[in-house]
Amino acid sequence: MSSVHRVKNSTVDGQKSVEFQNVSFRLADGKTLLADLNLEISRGETLILLGRSGSGKTTTMKLINRLLDPTQGQVRVEGRSTLEWDPIQLRRRVGYVIQEIGLFPHLTVEENIGVVPRLERWATERIQERARALLNMVGLDPDRFAARYPRELSGGQRQRVGVARALAADPPLILLDEPFGALDPITRREIQVEFKDLQARLQKTMVFVTHDVREAFVLANRIGLVKEGKMIFLGAPSLLLESNDPEARAFAECFHEAGSPENAR
Ligand SMILES: Nc1ncnc2c1ncn2[C@@H]1O[C@H](COP(=O)(O)OP(=O)(O)O)[C@@H](O)[C@H]1O
Ligand SMILES: [Mg+2]
Repeated sequence: MSSVHRVKNSTVDGQKSVEFQNVSFRLADGKTLLADLNLEISRGETLILLGRSGSGKTTTMKLINRLLDPTQGQVRVEGRSTLEWDPIQLRRRVGYVIQEIGLFPHLTVEENIGVVPRLERWATERIQERARALLNMVGLDPDRFAARYPRELSGGQRQRVGVARALAADPPLILLDEPFGALDPITRREIQVEFKDLQARLQKTMVFVTHDVREAFVLANRIGLVKEGKMIFLGAPSLLLESNDPEARAFAECFHEAGSPENAR
């Protein structure tokens, strides 16, 4: 057995995928971006981080895949502190979908999807097969899309490829940071519904960031509401609607104005 600690991918009852234990993150100038966060995310759960822009959602995500280290407390992934994980090993076990930095422009769709499998030294044929299977899974015909470059795709198609890429090496944990933020409302709704089906089939642990309360309600097992670096609510979506916290109520009002997401299915 190598020194690299292997953790099985299978869902184990009650096992935690991610834990935040008294986690704070401060900048060198003392500014606190995240304060005393405590949170447990179970295997197979989809946790939505909801909050206004600038509230600390992306910072929370970066602490999970070790793009940032906590200045206090610890973040544990699969039972081990992120400080004990080799950052590269960790990132290969954590799929990451981001809105802005997206796909490599000089790589085809198939090559983009194959980035992590290539790092993992999969055989070329296996990478191709995996890419094609994933394109099918996210609703893109591989014969039409595998050889295209990102600039030859619409925004919605690029997002689908981004999701496929994050799933490529079958990581147990997927982080999605406003993945559908740039889409028009119709496409966004379609992709949300498809994503929900995908989520049900894959049973991955997912942490999904959004400022869109409707999106949160479509996808969440639980919602964590973040305000100014603090998690002020954590619980089932229905409980968010009943909360007396002013920020929770502000989001609940947006939800009521937008109408029930039940219509989305
Ligand atoms: N490296 C940094 N230096 C200074 N301020 C930062 C840095 N990273 C994030 N911030 C600030 O921290 C706050 C939280 O950022 P972020 O986690 O990206 O928010 P969100 O993703 O919820 O929009 C914001 O006010 C942001 O401007
Ligand atoms: Mg952000």
